[in-house]
Amino acid sequence: MSADLWNSASSVLDVNWSDDHMVPSRRLYPHQWSWDAAFIAIGLAYVNPSRAWRDLRSLFEAQWPDGRVPHIVFDPRTAEGDYFPGPGFWNVPAYNGRAARGSTGLVQPPLHAIAAWEVYRRAAAHGAAAAHEAGDELKWLYPRLVAQQEYLSRRRDAAGEGLASIVHPWESGLDNSPSWDTAMSAVPADMGLLTRYTRRDLEVADASHRPLDIDYARYLGLVLNYRDGGYSDTALAQRHDFVVECPSFNAILAAAELALVHIAEVVGADPEVHRERAQRITAAISKHLWDPQTRTFRSRDVRTKTLSPARCVNGLVPLILPDLPDHQAAAIMAEAASERFGLPEATGLPVPSYDRTATDFDTLRYWRGPIWINVNWLLRRGMLVHGYRGEAEDLRMAMIRLIHRSGHYEYFHPVTGEGIGAPTFSWTAALSLDLLADRSVPAYARAA
Ligand code: GLC
Repeated sequence: MSADLWNSASSVLDVNWSDDHMVPSRRLYPHQWSWDAAFIAIGLAYVNPSRAWRDLRSLFEAQWPDGRVPHIVFDPRTAEGDYFPGPGFWNVPAYNGRAARGSTGLVQPPLHAIAAWEVYRRAAAHGAAAAHEAGDELKWLYPRLVAQQEYLSRRRDAAGEGLASIVHPWESGLDNSPSWDTAMSAVPADMGLLTRYTRRDLEVADASHRPLDIDYARYLGLVLNYRDGGYSDTALAQRHDFVVECPSFNAILAAAELALVHIAEVVGADPEVHRERAQRITAAISKHLWDPQTRTFRSRDVRTKTLSPARCVNGLVPLILPDLPDHQAAAIMAEAASERFGLPEATGLPVPSYDRTATDFDTLRYWRGPIWINVNWLLRRGMLVHGYRGEAEDLRMAMIRLIHRSGHYEYFHPVTGEGIGAPTFSWTAALSLDLLADRSVPAYARAA
């Protein structure tokens, strides 16, 4: 099973490579996506480390002067009509010598320091030249990774309480998750936008899997508001209709600081500052995004200071933080094992993106039910970090079995395990390499 899976994963990554970057999927996503590039680099490091570095470099070459790393870097060879909303809609001005309209102005979870550290750790296995390349790439990336973290920690701290806010559901990477429903219901939906613009996703994917039109109208309205404000983050909570703190986004932000501790040690910078930042962000997640009644992590609407009622997979991701208090780590494990998420022990499958017992659990619609490999990969990492070795191994095997049986799909039906969405999806392929090789256990993981 493992040789087949290894080979099929490598060939997906060959097919989806496009000169100097990887596309998530040729038809549905024909540009470069930010957190995809991080998950992809982690797996690509086993088979082609130079491409893993190239992909990260292509992304960071498009970093804005304020430090933000755009959620999409547009490929100028892809026609405007092949993806919506494309470069013309975002209308980003020229910056850093790059042509106008080269990227979006949103971000995605900052997983890149973690990816860079994993690629670096793999390099020695590829010989002296690869190790040398890795040292150079890490040096080039370090100040850029720090600028990315500082943008999110300073400019995006809309509540002033030490957490980064997202200004659009797309920034979470969990686009239509029920985690945003309450905050989104207060965002005006201008349905006229859908007559002025055509949704390209419905031409290339099944409508029953995709966000609804009313969600899409709100998505577009939020982009237009942020764009028309010059993509500025000043006084966000007053000027913008969606300002939310996501537990998964912030857990990744803190874990990235821990990766920067290691990177700083290699490049001769001060690791201490990163250690402190990780602790501060962890403490803020633990305090502000925790619901003591249900003992779960939730997203928080900064404008109303309320926690979302929805139990979603993003609430499980803070487990990746080693300094999370033990009682909260244990509560995440209990939630993951409950009938709501049903660890492999009960279902034989990785966890779904949303509470299986919720009345609006949807087996097809994207982040409202289906199983996604990237968030399960994060959850498994969290289990290792907190010493839940047996559960981590069960989850690793459940992911491998599922991908082997169904293919390198974008997401999977949470009851049947059938593959849905794009069939040759890069991060599913890349992470299956990492799951097979099983070498990305963080140094700070507990023994058991
Ligand atoms: C979808 C996913 C997002 C991903 C993008 C490209 O928008 O929700 O997480 O980055 O596709 O794969």
